[in-house]
Amino acid sequence: MYFRFLPLLASLVFAGCSRDPASPANTSPPATAAAPAYPLRGVVTDVMPAQSSLMVRHEEIPGFMPAMTMALKVEADVLPAATRDQVITATLYRREAEFWLRDVKLSPPGSAAAPAAPAASADGGVGNAEAGQAIYARICFTCHQFTGLGLPGAFPPLAGAEPVAGDPDRLIRIVLHGLQGPITVKGVTYASVMPPHGMQLQDQEIADVLTYVRGAWDNRSGPVSAAAVARVRAADAGRAMMWTWDELQNR
Ligand code: HEC
Repeated sequence: MYFRFLPLLASLVFAGCSRDPASPANTSPPATAAAPAYPLRGVVTDVMPAQSSLMVRHEEIPGFMPAMTMALKVEADVLPAATRDQVITATLYRREAEFWLRDVKLSPPGSAAAPAAPAASADGGVGNAEAGQAIYARICFTCHQFTGLGLPGAFPPLAGAEPVAGDPDRLIRIVLHGLQGPITVKGVTYASVMPPHGMQLQDQEIADVLTYVRGAWDNRSGPVSAAAVARVRAADAGRAMMWTWDELQNR
C-alpha cells in the first residue's frame, strides 16, 4: 500500500541484465536515467563498510516509502567521510534488487548547513528521539507509563501497538486533536479519552515525541518529521473535535 510497484517492476527488469563481471560490485555506474529516483533526507545511524552501506533513518519519501530506518548502498568514496549522527541528503534509487544512494551530502549533526538537521527552527527536521524522550517523560508517561505498556482498562499501550507502527499522519492527528471512543490495541478495546496536545506542543516537539515512541521499547518504526506535522496541522486547521479511531481510518 505504501510502495508504488513501478520501481519494483523496473528493478525486476534490471535484475535480468547481467552485470559486467570485470567491474567490482560496488563501483558500478549509477542506474540508467530511466530508473526512478527520489530525494532522501535523514540521519546516518550506522556506517557498515563491509556491506558498502549506510544505515539511514530517513524521512517519508512521499508517494514511495514511509519514514523508516534502512541500509542503503553507497559508492566506496562516500564511506570514509560518513559517521553516525550525520545529517544526510541524497538521491535514492533502485539498482537491481537493492536501494542505492547517489549525490550524497553529509553534514555534522545539528549543523546550520544541514537541510534536514533536527534543529528546533527547521520545519523539515527529522524528529529527534532524545528530545522526544524528554517530552514523553513530561507529558505522555502519566497515562501511557514509562514502560509504554499503558494501564490495563484505562490507557492503551504504545509499546508494540499497531497504531504506533502505522500511518504517521494518524499519530500526528491523535496528538494534535486527541482521541475518544473505542479503539482496539493489541486485542483490548479501550473507550476512553486522550486530550489534545496541539496547543501545548510545537511541530518539532510532536515530531520528536512520535519519533521517540516509534523507536522506543521494541518498536522499530521510522521517524516523523516536523514538516509532516506542519502539513497535517494545516490540513486540520479549524478542527475543534477530538478524533474517533473510526474517523481516522477514512482520512
Ligand atoms: C491523559 C492521559 C493521556 C495522555 C497525557 C496521553 N495519552 Fe495517548 N491515549 C490516551 C488514551 C485514553 C487513549 C485511547 C483513547 C480512546 O479510547 O479512544 C490514547 C491513545 C493514544 C494512541 C493511539 C492508541 C495506541 O495505543 O497506540 C497514541 C499513539 C497515543 N495515545 C500517543 C500519545 C502520546 C505520544 C502522548 C504524549 C504526547 C500521549 N498519548 C498522551 C491517554 C493519554
